[in-house]
Amino acid sequence: PRVTIVGAGRVGSTLAQRIAEKNLADVVLLDIIAGMPQGLALDLVEARGIELHNRQIIGTNNYADTSGSQIVVITAGIPRKPGMSRDDLLKTNAKIVVEASKNAIAHSPNAIFIVVTNPLDVMTYLAWEATGLPRSRIMGMAGVLDSARFETFIALELGVLPADVKAMVLGSHGDLMVPLSRYATVNGIPITELLDATIIARLVERTRNGGAEIVELMQTGGAFFAPASATSVMVESILLNQSRLLPVAAYLQGEYGLEDVVIGVPCRLGCGGIERVLELNLTDEEREALHTSAQSVRKNIERSQE
Ligand code: NAI
Repeated sequence: PRVTIVGAGRVGSTLAQRIAEKNLADVVLLDIIAGMPQGLALDLVEARGIELHNRQIIGTNNYADTSGSQIVVITAGIPRKPGMSRDDLLKTNAKIVVEASKNAIAHSPNAIFIVVTNPLDVMTYLAWEATGLPRSRIMGMAGVLDSARFETFIALELGVLPADVKAMVLGSHGDLMVPLSRYATVNGIPITELLDATIIARLVERTRNGGAEIVELMQTGGAFFAPASATSVMVESILLNQSRLLPVAAYLQGEYGLEDVVIGVPCRLGCGGIERVLELNLTDEEREALHTSAQSVRKNIERSQE
């Protein structure tokens, strides 16, 4: 199989490395900067003998080289600077994502699309609109990353192995995300049994600010290692038809009482893309938080089209 990554910046290039070194697929890295994706591809190819895989990695500035991809990942756009919210990226990235999606679908009409560019839920909606794809074949990555952050903070607080912590974060990728604390467990034991409510509230708050915390520390761009890992998990579940149940930004058609909006919900990911959207029984408070989150996505979809 072949995966195209549009945008060979920090998230895109790290994702290329993950996909090749996990031996999942050949990779085409595309960017508008001449020579840059070609150089990165050559660098990755030179590591193949050491990393013991034989995946092809191609760098290009031309969409014709991406043809026949099973998956297209869109990471093209600008990242945040300190003090910026994801929404500040709206207009610039909207243009880039719409153009990239149209170019990519023209050469890979059967591909499944994963959008990573921020503001994530809005960009996924715009890519859905631009490609005309059925909702099963277009989605955004955010929940897997936000959940991994929540799990990390829980594991650090309890001093347990991160892999033993399972949690899910729904809603939009931003301050209005909806971490489902009540469903978070350490090997099946609810964290509400293990931690005080005030501590859980602090971990939830740190999760909401997880991206900004890194932007503030780095001062130049944002996180990319964990975002690349999170995206590779989605790529893997699709390519290997693993049927993992992951929080994915999906186009909703009435689920959770929401329609014509993209937002993070639990989805089963397999070779058909989003094969099922799972509807949980949320508490009134959680449902309200999800709706508030969806409203802000809607507002930004409108703003992006002004
Ligand atoms: P970056 O600046 O390192 O890379 C972006 C790349 O896109 C650059 O190489 C740039 O040349 C390229 N690009 C710009 N316009 C293009 C076009 N029209 N066609 C093709 N390529 C184009 O940024 P980074 O750190 O890789 O982040 C990429 C995006 O992903 C940002 O919008 C960022 O906010 C977002 N992001 C989203 C996450 C999520 O959870 N959904 C997590 C981390 C980042």
